[in-house]
Amino acid sequence: MDDSSLIWDDGALVTIDQRGLPHEVRELRLRTVDEIIEAITTLAIRGAPAIGIAGAFGVVIATRAHTHHDSADTSNRPVGDVGSRGGGVVDVAAVAAEADRIAAARPTAVNLAWAVERVRTRIGEGADAVLAETLDLLAEDGRVNLAAATHAADLVQRLCGARPLRLLTHCNTGRLATSAVGTAIGALRVLHERGVVADVIVDETRPLLQGARLTAWELAEAGIPHRLTIDSAAAWAMATGQVDAVLVGADRITANGDVANKIGTFTLALAARHHGIPFIVVAPESTRDTAMATGAQIVVEQRAGTEVTGFGGVATAPAGTAVFNPAFDVTPTDLVTAVVTENGVVYRNSDSFDDRGRAVPADT
Ligand code: MRU
Repeated sequence: MDDSSLIWDDGALVTIDQRGLPHEVRELRLRTVDEIIEAITTLAIRGAPAIGIAGAFGVVIATRAHTHHDSADTSNRPVGDVGSRGGGVVDVAAVAAEADRIAAARPTAVNLAWAVERVRTRIGEGADAVLAETLDLLAEDGRVNLAAATHAADLVQRLCGARPLRLLTHCNTGRLATSAVGTAIGALRVLHERGVVADVIVDETRPLLQGARLTAWELAEAGIPHRLTIDSAAAWAMATGQVDAVLVGADRITANGDVANKIGTFTLALAARHHGIPFIVVAPESTRDTAMATGAQIVVEQRAGTEVTGFGGVATAPAGTAVFNPAFDVTPTDLVTAVVTENGVVYRNSDSFDDRGRAVPADT
Protein backbone atom coordinates (compact mmCIF):
# COMPACT_ATOMS: atom_id res chain seq x y z
CA MET A 1 0.00 0.00 0.00
CA ASP A 2 1.60 3.32 -0.99
CA ASP A 3 1.19 6.64 0.85
CA SER A 4 -2.39 7.21 -0.23
CA SER A 5 -4.92 5.17 1.71
CA LEU A 6 -7.26 5.18 -1.32
CA ILE A 7 -5.99 3.89 -4.67
CA TRP A 8 -7.68 3.41 -8.03
CA ASP A 9 -6.45 0.18 -9.59
CA ASP A 10 -7.80 -1.51 -12.67
CA GLY A 11 -11.41 -0.43 -12.23
CA ALA A 12 -11.48 -0.95 -8.46
CA LEU A 13 -11.10 1.26 -5.41
CA VAL A 14 -8.42 -0.31 -3.22
CA THR A 15 -8.04 0.58 0.44
CA ILE A 16 -7.36 -0.84 3.91
CA ASP A 17 -10.43 -2.40 5.49
CA GLN A 18 -10.60 -0.29 8.65
CA ARG A 19 -12.82 -2.87 10.36
CA GLY A 20 -9.84 -5.22 10.62
CA LEU A 21 -7.42 -2.77 12.25
CA PRO A 22 -5.28 -2.86 14.30
CA HIS A 23 -4.95 -6.64 14.24
CA GLU A 24 -5.33 -7.25 10.55
CA VAL A 25 -4.15 -4.98 7.71
CA ARG A 26 -6.32 -6.40 4.96
CA GLU A 27 -6.86 -4.94 1.52
CA LEU A 28 -10.36 -4.16 0.32
CA ARG A 29 -11.09 -4.10 -3.44
CA LEU A 30 -14.38 -2.43 -4.28
CA ARG A 31 -15.72 -2.97 -7.79
CA THR A 32 -19.44 -2.17 -7.56
CA VAL A 33 -21.63 0.64 -6.26
CA ASP A 34 -23.16 -1.73 -3.72
CA GLU A 35 -19.71 -2.64 -2.42
CA ILE A 36 -18.79 1.05 -2.07
CA ILE A 37 -22.02 1.79 -0.19
CA GLU A 38 -21.54 -1.21 2.08
CA ALA A 39 -17.95 -0.16 2.83
CA ILE A 40 -19.14 3.32 3.79
CA THR A 41 -22.08 2.21 5.93
CA THR A 42 -20.10 -0.47 7.79
CA LEU A 43 -17.16 1.94 8.34
CA ALA A 44 -14.70 -0.17 6.37
CA ILE A 45 -14.04 3.26 4.87
CA ARG A 46 -14.76 6.09 7.27
CA GLY A 47 -13.85 9.69 8.06
CA ALA A 48 -15.46 12.59 6.24
CA PRO A 49 -12.89 13.20 3.46
CA ALA A 50 -12.35 9.46 2.86
CA ILE A 51 -16.04 8.68 2.41
CA GLY A 52 -16.30 11.64 0.03
CA ILE A 53 -13.50 10.31 -2.16
CA ALA A 54 -14.89 6.77 -1.99
CA GLY A 55 -18.31 8.10 -2.99
CA ALA A 56 -16.79 9.86 -6.01
CA PHE A 57 -15.15 6.59 -7.08
CA GLY A 58 -18.59 5.02 -6.70
CA VAL A 59 -19.88 7.46 -9.32
CA VAL A 60 -16.97 6.46 -11.60
CA ILE A 61 -17.97 2.82 -11.21
CA ALA A 62 -21.65 3.65 -11.83
CA THR A 63 -20.78 5.65 -14.96
CA ARG A 64 -18.73 2.77 -16.33
CA ALA A 65 -21.53 0.32 -15.58
CA HIS A 66 -24.12 2.51 -17.33
CA THR A 67 -22.09 3.30 -20.44
CA HIS A 68 -23.36 1.51 -23.52
CA HIS A 69 -21.07 0.95 -26.44
CA ASP A 70 -23.84 -0.21 -28.74
CA SER A 71 -25.87 2.89 -29.71
CA ALA A 72 -28.91 0.67 -30.45
CA ASP A 73 -29.11 0.06 -26.66
CA THR A 74 -30.08 3.68 -26.07
CA SER A 75 -32.73 4.09 -28.75
CA ASN A 76 -35.64 3.93 -26.32
CA ARG A 77 -34.28 6.49 -23.89
CA PRO A 78 -35.78 9.96 -23.76
CA VAL A 79 -33.81 12.76 -25.37
CA GLY A 80 -31.61 14.50 -22.78
CA ASP A 81 -31.23 11.35 -20.76
CA VAL A 82 -27.97 10.25 -22.34
CA GLY A 83 -24.46 11.62 -22.63
CA SER A 84 -22.28 10.46 -25.50
CA ARG A 85 -18.80 11.91 -25.13
CA GLY A 86 -15.77 9.81 -24.22
CA GLY A 87 -16.34 6.39 -25.82
CA GLY A 88 -19.89 5.09 -25.39
CA VAL A 89 -23.27 6.46 -24.44
CA VAL A 90 -23.90 7.17 -20.78
CA ASP A 91 -27.33 6.60 -19.28
CA VAL A 92 -27.15 9.81 -17.27
CA ALA A 93 -30.41 9.21 -15.40
CA ALA A 94 -29.28 5.76 -14.25
CA VAL A 95 -25.93 7.10 -13.04
CA ALA A 96 -27.62 10.04 -11.30
CA ALA A 97 -29.86 7.58 -9.41
CA GLU A 98 -26.78 5.64 -8.31
CA ALA A 99 -25.09 8.92 -7.28
CA ASP A 100 -28.13 9.73 -5.10
CA ARG A 101 -27.90 6.32 -3.46
CA ILE A 102 -24.19 6.78 -2.74
CA ALA A 103 -24.65 10.31 -1.34
CA ALA A 104 -27.30 8.98 1.05
CA ALA A 105 -25.07 6.23 2.50
CA ARG A 106 -24.26 8.37 5.57
CA PRO A 107 -26.02 11.67 6.33
CA THR A 108 -23.80 13.72 8.64
CA ALA A 109 -20.49 14.32 6.85
CA VAL A 110 -21.12 16.89 4.14
CA ASN A 111 -17.98 15.73 2.28
CA LEU A 112 -19.85 12.70 0.93
CA ALA A 113 -22.63 14.67 -0.77
CA TRP A 114 -20.13 17.39 -1.74
CA ALA A 115 -17.76 15.00 -3.52
CA VAL A 116 -20.56 13.08 -5.24
CA GLU A 117 -22.04 16.39 -6.41
CA ARG A 118 -18.68 17.57 -7.72
CA VAL A 119 -18.14 14.53 -9.94
CA ARG A 120 -21.81 14.27 -10.88
CA THR A 121 -21.36 17.38 -13.05
CA ARG A 122 -19.07 15.33 -15.34
CA ILE A 123 -21.32 12.29 -15.85
CA GLY A 124 -22.56 13.45 -19.25
CA GLU A 125 -18.95 13.64 -20.50
CA GLY A 126 -18.42 9.94 -19.86
CA ALA A 127 -16.60 7.70 -17.40
CA ASP A 128 -13.11 8.98 -18.26
CA ALA A 129 -14.14 12.53 -17.34
CA VAL A 130 -15.71 11.39 -14.06
CA LEU A 131 -12.54 9.44 -13.29
CA ALA A 132 -10.33 12.45 -14.09
CA GLU A 133 -12.40 14.65 -11.74
CA THR A 134 -12.22 12.01 -9.00
CA LEU A 135 -8.45 11.62 -9.37
CA ASP A 136 -8.15 15.43 -9.11
CA LEU A 137 -10.20 15.29 -5.91
CA LEU A 138 -7.94 12.55 -4.55
CA ALA A 139 -4.76 14.48 -5.36
CA GLU A 140 -6.18 17.70 -3.89
CA ASP A 141 -7.10 15.99 -0.64
CA GLY A 142 -3.52 15.32 0.40
CA ARG A 143 -2.43 18.88 -0.49
CA VAL A 144 -5.39 20.45 1.29
CA ASN A 145 -4.85 18.37 4.43
CA LEU A 146 -1.17 19.28 4.61
CA ALA A 147 -2.01 22.97 4.28
CA ALA A 148 -4.72 22.82 6.97
CA ALA A 149 -2.48 20.75 9.24
CA THR A 150 0.38 23.24 8.88
CA HIS A 151 -1.88 26.22 9.65
CA ALA A 152 -3.25 24.37 12.69
CA ALA A 153 0.24 23.51 13.92
CA ASP A 154 1.23 27.18 13.59
CA LEU A 155 -1.84 28.23 15.59
CA VAL A 156 -1.21 25.68 18.35
CA GLN A 157 2.36 26.91 18.74
CA ARG A 158 1.23 30.52 18.76
CA LEU A 159 -1.37 29.80 21.47
CA CYS A 160 0.65 27.40 23.57
CA GLY A 161 4.20 28.62 23.07
CA ALA A 162 7.33 26.75 22.06
CA ARG A 163 7.31 24.32 25.00
CA PRO A 164 6.90 20.57 24.45
CA LEU A 165 3.19 20.16 23.83
CA ARG A 166 0.67 17.83 25.45
CA LEU A 167 -2.25 17.44 23.06
CA LEU A 168 -5.53 15.55 23.13
CA THR A 169 -7.45 14.17 20.15
CA HIS A 170 -10.67 12.27 19.56
CA CYS A 171 -11.75 9.70 16.98
CA ASN A 172 -9.48 9.21 13.95
CA THR A 173 -8.64 12.06 11.61
CA GLY A 174 -5.49 10.66 10.08
CA ARG A 175 -4.50 9.20 6.74
CA LEU A 176 -7.14 6.51 7.18
CA ALA A 177 -9.90 9.12 7.51
CA THR A 178 -8.65 11.03 4.48
CA SER A 179 -6.45 9.96 1.58
CA ALA A 180 -3.21 11.18 3.15
CA VAL A 181 -1.75 13.26 6.01
CA GLY A 182 -5.02 13.74 7.91
CA THR A 183 -6.51 16.85 9.48
CA ALA A 184 -6.17 17.02 13.30
CA ILE A 185 -3.75 14.11 13.16
CA GLY A 186 -2.07 15.91 10.26
CA ALA A 187 -1.40 18.79 12.67
CA LEU A 188 0.04 16.30 15.16
CA ARG A 189 2.32 14.98 12.42
CA VAL A 190 3.53 18.50 11.55
CA LEU A 191 4.14 19.35 15.22
CA HIS A 192 5.97 16.04 15.69
CA GLU A 193 8.20 16.82 12.69
CA ARG A 194 8.97 20.14 14.40
CA GLY A 195 10.03 18.14 17.46
CA VAL A 196 7.55 19.72 19.88
CA VAL A 197 5.13 16.90 20.72
CA ALA A 198 5.69 15.58 24.25
CA ASP A 199 2.48 13.55 24.47
CA VAL A 200 -0.81 12.95 22.69
CA ILE A 201 -3.72 11.69 24.74
CA VAL A 202 -5.90 9.57 22.47
CA ASP A 203 -9.56 9.12 23.42
CA GLU A 204 -10.55 5.52 22.75
CA THR A 205 -13.78 6.84 21.10
CA ARG A 206 -16.63 4.60 22.10
CA PRO A 207 -18.46 2.70 20.78
CA LEU A 208 -16.41 1.71 17.71
CA LEU A 209 -13.00 2.64 19.11
CA GLN A 210 -11.68 4.70 16.21
CA GLY A 211 -9.19 6.22 18.68
CA ALA A 212 -7.96 2.95 20.17
CA ARG A 213 -7.99 0.92 16.96
CA LEU A 214 -7.02 3.50 14.35
CA THR A 215 -5.46 6.62 15.89
CA ALA A 216 -3.18 4.66 18.23
CA TRP A 217 -2.17 2.56 15.21
CA GLU A 218 -1.44 5.63 13.07
CA LEU A 219 0.45 7.48 15.79
CA ALA A 220 2.56 4.38 16.50
CA GLU A 221 3.25 4.07 12.77
CA ALA A 222 4.38 7.73 12.70
CA GLY A 223 6.44 7.42 15.91
CA ILE A 224 4.38 10.09 17.72
CA PRO A 225 4.35 9.63 21.53
CA HIS A 226 0.86 8.90 22.78
CA ARG A 227 -1.22 7.45 25.59
CA LEU A 228 -4.65 5.90 25.16
CA THR A 229 -7.40 6.78 27.59
CA ILE A 230 -11.09 6.11 28.04
CA ASP A 231 -13.26 8.97 26.74
CA SER A 232 -14.51 9.82 30.20
CA ALA A 233 -10.96 10.48 31.47
CA ALA A 234 -10.43 13.43 29.11
CA ALA A 235 -11.81 16.11 31.43
CA TRP A 236 -9.69 14.77 34.27
CA ALA A 237 -6.59 14.86 32.06
CA MET A 238 -7.33 18.56 31.50
CA ALA A 239 -8.04 19.20 35.19
CA THR A 240 -4.72 17.65 36.15
CA GLY A 241 -2.77 19.85 33.75
CA GLN A 242 -1.93 17.21 31.16
CA VAL A 243 -3.44 18.95 28.09
CA ASP A 244 -2.27 22.14 26.36
CA ALA A 245 -4.72 21.99 23.44
CA VAL A 246 -7.45 19.78 21.99
CA LEU A 247 -7.37 19.05 18.25
CA VAL A 248 -10.30 17.41 16.48
CA GLY A 249 -11.66 17.03 12.96
CA ALA A 250 -15.17 17.70 11.69
CA ASP A 251 -17.91 16.14 9.60
CA ARG A 252 -19.83 19.33 8.91
CA ILE A 253 -19.27 22.95 9.91
CA THR A 254 -22.30 25.15 9.43
CA ALA A 255 -22.33 28.81 8.37
CA ASN A 256 -22.37 30.03 11.99
CA GLY A 257 -19.43 27.80 12.99
CA ASP A 258 -21.27 24.93 14.73
CA VAL A 259 -19.27 21.72 14.34
CA ALA A 260 -20.59 18.19 13.87
CA ASN A 261 -17.98 15.57 14.74
CA LYS A 262 -17.71 12.17 16.38
CA ILE A 263 -19.89 11.70 19.45
CA GLY A 264 -18.01 12.94 22.50
CA THR A 265 -16.55 16.01 20.79
CA PHE A 266 -19.11 18.34 22.42
CA THR A 267 -18.20 17.00 25.87
CA LEU A 268 -14.51 17.64 25.15
CA ALA A 269 -15.26 21.21 24.06
CA LEU A 270 -17.19 21.86 27.29
CA ALA A 271 -14.32 20.51 29.35
CA ALA A 272 -11.75 22.48 27.35
CA ARG A 273 -13.72 25.70 27.82
CA HIS A 274 -13.98 25.07 31.57
CA HIS A 275 -10.19 24.73 31.78
CA GLY A 276 -9.33 27.56 29.35
CA ILE A 277 -7.71 25.12 26.91
CA PRO A 278 -7.78 25.89 23.17
CA PHE A 279 -10.25 23.69 21.30
CA ILE A 280 -9.20 23.65 17.66
CA VAL A 281 -11.08 22.12 14.74
CA VAL A 282 -9.02 21.16 11.69
CA ALA A 283 -10.89 20.37 8.47
CA PRO A 284 -10.84 20.93 4.73
CA GLU A 285 -13.00 23.69 3.24
CA SER A 286 -15.15 20.89 1.78
CA THR A 287 -16.37 20.16 5.33
CA ARG A 288 -17.82 23.66 5.63
CA ASP A 289 -21.48 23.75 4.72
CA THR A 290 -22.13 27.44 4.26
CA ALA A 291 -25.61 26.69 2.89
CA MET A 292 -26.66 25.36 6.29
CA ALA A 293 -27.25 28.16 8.78
CA THR A 294 -26.73 26.37 12.11
CA GLY A 295 -26.02 22.99 13.61
CA ALA A 296 -29.70 22.59 14.49
CA GLN A 297 -30.28 21.54 10.88
CA ILE A 298 -27.62 18.82 10.83
CA VAL A 299 -28.88 15.25 10.49
CA VAL A 300 -27.05 13.24 13.13
CA GLU A 301 -26.67 9.63 12.11
CA GLN A 302 -28.10 7.13 14.58
CA ARG A 303 -26.43 3.74 14.45
CA ALA A 304 -27.41 0.25 15.51
CA GLY A 305 -27.95 -0.41 19.21
CA THR A 306 -25.76 -3.50 18.96
CA GLU A 307 -22.72 -1.21 18.72
CA VAL A 308 -23.45 -0.26 22.34
CA THR A 309 -24.94 -3.41 23.85
CA GLY A 310 -21.95 -5.58 23.01
CA PHE A 311 -18.39 -5.64 21.80
CA GLY A 312 -16.58 -8.03 19.52
CA GLY A 313 -19.66 -10.22 19.33
CA VAL A 314 -19.97 -10.49 23.14
CA ALA A 315 -23.05 -8.98 24.82
CA THR A 316 -22.19 -6.42 27.50
CA ALA A 317 -25.74 -5.36 28.39
CA PRO A 318 -28.91 -7.30 29.23
CA ALA A 319 -30.73 -8.59 26.16
CA GLY A 320 -33.37 -6.14 24.96
CA THR A 321 -31.76 -3.03 26.51
CA ALA A 322 -32.91 0.12 24.69
CA VAL A 323 -30.08 2.22 23.26
CA PHE A 324 -29.31 5.83 22.29
CA ASN A 325 -26.44 5.65 19.80
CA PRO A 326 -25.81 8.90 17.91
CA ALA A 327 -22.64 8.63 15.82
CA PHE A 328 -21.99 12.38 16.06
CA ASP A 329 -22.76 15.44 18.16
CA VAL A 330 -22.80 19.13 17.36
CA THR A 331 -20.48 21.48 19.27
CA PRO A 332 -21.91 25.00 19.47
CA THR A 333 -19.73 27.59 17.83
CA ASP A 334 -19.05 29.54 21.02
CA LEU A 335 -17.15 26.57 22.47
CA VAL A 336 -14.83 26.38 19.46
CA THR A 337 -11.60 28.38 19.79
CA ALA A 338 -10.81 28.23 16.09
CA VAL A 339 -11.63 26.42 12.87
CA VAL A 340 -8.60 25.91 10.64
CA THR A 341 -8.75 24.87 7.00
CA GLU A 342 -6.33 24.97 4.06
CA ASN A 343 -7.16 28.69 3.92
CA GLY A 344 -5.85 29.27 7.45
CA VAL A 345 -7.89 30.24 10.52
CA VAL A 346 -11.36 30.74 9.06
CA TYR A 347 -13.21 31.08 12.33
CA ARG A 348 -11.81 32.42 15.55
CA ASN A 349 -13.78 32.84 18.73
CA SER A 350 -12.55 36.16 20.09
CA ASP A 351 -14.12 35.41 23.49
CA SER A 352 -11.60 32.61 23.95
CA PHE A 353 -8.47 34.71 23.38
CA ASP A 354 -6.76 37.40 25.38
CA ASP A 355 -4.89 40.33 23.81
CA ARG A 356 -1.83 38.17 23.20
CA GLY A 357 -3.84 35.54 21.39
CA ARG A 358 -3.71 33.11 24.30
CA ALA A 359 -6.71 31.04 25.30
CA VAL A 360 -8.52 32.30 28.37
CA PRO A 361 -11.11 30.60 30.60
CA ALA A 362 -14.74 31.43 29.84
CA ASP A 363 -15.29 33.25 33.13
CA THR A 364 -12.50 35.84 32.85
O1 MRU B 1 -18.03 7.62 12.14
P1 MRU B 1 -16.69 8.06 11.62
O2 MRU B 1 -15.58 7.22 12.13
O3 MRU B 1 -16.69 8.21 10.13
O4 MRU B 1 -16.48 9.52 12.23
C1 MRU B 1 -15.34 10.25 11.82
C2 MRU B 1 -15.19 11.55 12.51
O5 MRU B 1 -16.03 11.99 13.26
C3 MRU B 1 -13.97 12.35 12.15
O6 MRU B 1 -13.54 13.11 13.24
C4 MRU B 1 -14.31 13.29 10.97
O7 MRU B 1 -14.91 12.58 9.94
C5 MRU B 1 -13.11 13.99 10.47
S1 MRU B 1 -11.98 12.89 9.61
C6 MRU B 1 -10.73 13.90 9.01
